[in-house]
Amino acid sequence: MKRDFQLPDIIRSIGEDMKTIWISDVLNGKFDGQNIELKGWVKRSRGSNKIRFLVLRDSTGAIQCVGKKDTLGEDAFEQLKSALIESSIIINGMVNPDERADGGYELVIQSVEIIGPVNPKTPFPITESAMAAADGGETEFLLDNRHLYLRTSRMTTMLKIRSSVFGAIHSYFRNQDFIEYQAPNFVAGAVEGGSTLFEVPYFPTEKNPERKAYLTQSWQLYAEAAMPALERLYTIAPSFRAEKSRTRRHLTEFWHAEMEVAWANNQEIMSYGEGVVRKIATTLLEERSAELESLDRDLETIARYADSKFPRIRYDEAVETLQGMGVEIEWGQDLDYSKEKVLTQDFDVPHFLTHYPKIAKPFYHRVDPDDENYVLCHDLLAPEGYGEIIGGGERTWSEEEILARIDEEGTPREPYQFYIDTRTYGGVPHGGFGLGVDRVCSWLTGADHIREVIPFPRDSRRITP
Ligand code: 4AD
Ligand code: MG
Repeated sequence: MKRDFQLPDIIRSIGEDMKTIWISDVLNGKFDGQNIELKGWVKRSRGSNKIRFLVLRDSTGAIQCVGKKDTLGEDAFEQLKSALIESSIIINGMVNPDERADGGYELVIQSVEIIGPVNPKTPFPITESAMAAADGGETEFLLDNRHLYLRTSRMTTMLKIRSSVFGAIHSYFRNQDFIEYQAPNFVAGAVEGGSTLFEVPYFPTEKNPERKAYLTQSWQLYAEAAMPALERLYTIAPSFRAEKSRTRRHLTEFWHAEMEVAWANNQEIMSYGEGVVRKIATTLLEERSAELESLDRDLETIARYADSKFPRIRYDEAVETLQGMGVEIEWGQDLDYSKEKVLTQDFDVPHFLTHYPKIAKPFYHRVDPDDENYVLCHDLLAPEGYGEIIGGGERTWSEEEILARIDEEGTPREPYQFYIDTRTYGGVPHGGFGLGVDRVCSWLTGADHIREVIPFPRDSRRITP
């Protein structure tokens, strides 16, 4: 097709024949007064039998387009009128700066082509009133129509922020020479206790006609096997937990950023945790300020997370604080969400809780040589009542101790033989942590529920769409 304008440099092309102009570039004033072609979907459409106002959206923004019957002619005007919400269309028109229009621009339509029409008998179900009923949250209706809900500006915004969070984690670790490393998702044993294991039937054998595999709860144990090879490793991968209770911060399939480092102690591992969280906050300020503001998130708050040191307090101190607040808690209990919520309500920045009681944590946590009732571990608790976003610490690294800890828990040794071997052959002090990426997204966006930040949330009730 012949074009009557020079393609400016800033046009990011998808192949030679498919030059695409992004709406955000138009709104940034790069095409003032030019005739251009825009591709996108109809966000809104209204008007009379003489003039139509159509809001066109693409992945970068939305622009009002105006078409008059006088200039377009009868047929083209009818085409324009028939472009229902979420039809995909290509519009040619002239870019007209106009202060009255949302975003300060209007496209004066010269021609329109409907690519993917929407049938008037089955209009797009996610209407403005359905969105208003959800009031910024998510109704069952919106969850049932998740595949279509993804196109709304709220969900698009969440997905862009999420992408920046993933990017920040990768660059944080890669900039420090960490190696990205993958572990299997089908495993033979638990990492984080048996109660949240998902069982999968797995090819019966003669010896084991009822053979089962489990979906992994964490990359950690297989990362420890590669620790003597790579020394600094990380991943971002899904983890699975059969969480029966439905809370605002639990998914059955979540994205887990995990790291493992050789020769590091609990304090050093916490510094990495603080580093990655601050890097995420910094990246969001650089890349996603507009999106955060559109969610009414206060940028000063995010800047405080980016710029502060995170205090480190012991579990015992936290329990005393909670008891002082009148919360019923016994020493030795892990902190559940209700307790973390109370504790973190008044935090101004994330806090590390260290030295949990041994009885509250799985076998791989290293016992504190100074007091065998505690383990050298940490949880990072996010403020604003949000609670745990990171769990990590030093690992039990001698062969003798790991065998004792496995036996103490009454866990069979057999599925962990590979893990024990890591200690048998040149074990060294080491440790790492896991960060719940969806939890971090939900905390930093201020979402009410973890479901809001993942495209297709999975919980105990829902595996569709
Ligand atoms: O505290 P967790 O269970 O620790 C581990 O899995 C360690 N093996 C990690 C390691 O040291 N490599 O989980 C780590 C983090 C939690 O702090 C939380 O942010 C997130 O994973 N998480 C969940 N996020 C969403 N839904 C769930 N059901 C989650 N369970 C844990
Ligand atoms: Mg934990």
